[in-house]
Amino acid sequence: MPLPALFHTERLVVHRAVPEDTDALLRVFGNPAAMRLFAHGRPWTRDELERFMGQYPDSDARLICLPGTVRLRTDPHAPAGGEVIGFGGVGYYVGETTTPDLFYALRSDHWGKGLATELSRAALAYAFAHPEVDFVNASAIPANAPSIRILEKCGLRLIRFVPEANRNLYRTTRDEWEAAVREHDRQNLK
Ligand SMILES: CC(C)(COP(=O)(O)OP(=O)(O)OC[C@H]1O[C@@H](n2cnc3c(N)ncnc32)[C@H](O)[C@@H]1OP(=O)(O)O)[C@@H](O)C(=O)NCCC(=O)NCCS
Repeated sequence: MPLPALFHTERLVVHRAVPEDTDALLRVFGNPAAMRLFAHGRPWTRDELERFMGQYPDSDARLICLPGTVRLRTDPHAPAGGEVIGFGGVGYYVGETTTPDLFYALRSDHWGKGLATELSRAALAYAFAHPEVDFVNASAIPANAPSIRILEKCGLRLIRFVPEANRNLYRTTRDEWEAAVREHDRQNLK
């Protein structure tokens, strides 16, 4: 029985991470090449991954949107999940000091197919479907050219470089996002 989707795209479905996803996600977060420009810059241990996945408990009502396990869609007519190929999205706890942040990590044999861009656009739409979300942040190490390209393609703007974190901080507001969606729809109607 497939888990209910948080959101889906043409090629992907994202659902709440469950312990059964851990082995597949270790193939993403345990890969030194993939983690070089992500978080602490080294592959994660199983313990670190399990703690990370446990950050989004379904018992916490303040958690209004959350990232999840990314699967390839097997059936183009139904958002049922296939193989696990990554993790990503936007998480946000209302009333916490944390901000809604977009992030993504995919298994390296699926890079270069536009999947992270597709995921990010859908994750932003999912986040902004929650009225409590006024803006979405993202951060990228300046050397992470693919990630910066994705953020810019999704309409996030560079706010500033944060030297203590060695990260560029990006943001899009609800107004900017809605204007970008209107413009996209207008172009597609032409
Ligand atoms: C970053 C990551 C998610 C990209 O996934 P992906 O599915 O390959 O990304 P996409 O194909 O959607 O888009 C990548 C874009 O970057 C571009 N790109 C790739 N390498 C590049 C480089 N060296 N310089 C400039 N642009 C580059 C691609 O051409 C593409 O842009 P285009 O569609 O306009 O041609 C993937 O490499 C990954 O999981 N990395 C490890 C985790 C990570 O670093 N996450 C980001 C931190 S939040």
